[in-house]
Amino acid sequence: MAKSIYKNSAIPVANIDGAEFDTIAVRAGHQRTHELEHSEAIFPTSSFVFNSASEAAARFSGEVEGNIYSRFTNPTVQAFEERIAAMEGGERAVATASGMAAIMSTCVALLKQGDHVVCSRSVFGTTNVFFQKYMAKFGVETTFVELTDIESWRSAINSNTKLLFLETPSNPLCEIADIAQLAELAHQNDALLAVDNCFCTPALQRPLSFGADIVIHSATKYLDGQGRCIGGVVVGNDEIMAEVYGFLRSAGPTMSPFNAWVFLKGLETLSLRMRAHSESALAVAQWLENKDSVETVFYTGLESHSQYALAKKQQSGFSGVLSFRIKGGREEAWKFIDGVQFLSITANLGDTKTTITHPATTTHGRLSDEDKARSGITENLIRISVGLESLEDIKKDLQLGFISAGLE
Ligand SMILES: Cc1ncc(COP(=O)(O)O)c(C=O)c1O
Repeated sequence: MAKSIYKNSAIPVANIDGAEFDTIAVRAGHQRTHELEHSEAIFPTSSFVFNSASEAAARFSGEVEGNIYSRFTNPTVQAFEERIAAMEGGERAVATASGMAAIMSTCVALLKQGDHVVCSRSVFGTTNVFFQKYMAKFGVETTFVELTDIESWRSAINSNTKLLFLETPSNPLCEIADIAQLAELAHQNDALLAVDNCFCTPALQRPLSFGADIVIHSATKYLDGQGRCIGGVVVGNDEIMAEVYGFLRSAGPTMSPFNAWVFLKGLETLSLRMRAHSESALAVAQWLENKDSVETVFYTGLESHSQYALAKKQQSGFSGVLSFRIKGGREEAWKFIDGVQFLSITANLGDTKTTITHPATTTHGRLSDEDKARSGITENLIRISVGLESLEDIKKDLQLGFISAGLE
């Protein structure tokens, strides 16, 4: 764990060495001020003061540890970083302004002109655009491959490959990569493996324990869990994270202390929420699977999922996101979505509120038709992030969607 940067003013909080995951999620990283507050303090300050000019110089030179400016470090942000690092089993975490800022900071910090990335085709649409359009502009080429096909990863790797990047389960089709197998492949080729752990969170899957080098999160999703704040985080070993931190300090896509505080509160209920999301999502997936008007349901918790065995090995739960293809095309999918009464039509996921979206025209709308076709983002695909409302109410609302689309 990183050393406290405000140890001068902090009171040590209960020792949780050797604690289990659920205790870590509630208590790790907590530093108490002299007010002895029970809930973590927020430090909404841009800069920090020094007792003298010589102390300022010593802090700036790195001779003495401590806060300088909140683009560099902030105690609330550090509490969040320490907690999520402990939850993922990493040495250090660096919090960022968004999930995309986490991906960007990792890539800009670790890659240079002439380097090559191998990326799963089944990633969040904006991640795809980031690699194809922006990294390419700076001379970093990306080859996109089939997430589940190890041979396509192997054959895409060349002597300049420095990074393998994936999401597992993927958004929105819930495909799964064998993290241990891909970590081995990356390391055989002196490359790093980065896993976007957005869908499962460390409550259900810890990629570092399977050999991944870097874990990335959109904290916006389940880490917050209530759709309040945008944020991200990167977790890895000290050496890698020093590079990512160095970029952040210079370029500035840092997390705000307020958002870090909200995420800290989110982490405290993460395990409970992920269990509840997984339970309801499985029930919804099974219900959808029995409908004649549904062509396919994509959810890792279904025994019919082609990688169910791998999901059970790698994950301790299946998360709350699923997608399904209905009979028809865009017209039916849009009518379905317009027919629901309380489910929120929004592209976010990982909220207590169930959300529904049409990936082909929202989250993945910027992909070319060819890329959509290759990634399985069809016009009749609908994604839902199952929330914590009553399961019966969620099903009733989805039923209105089927009726509105003329499918029942
Ligand atoms: C899997 C995944 N990764 C990354 C992101 C980007 O995160 P943010 O919106 O916080 O920048 C998203 C956003 O939807 C996502 O679903």
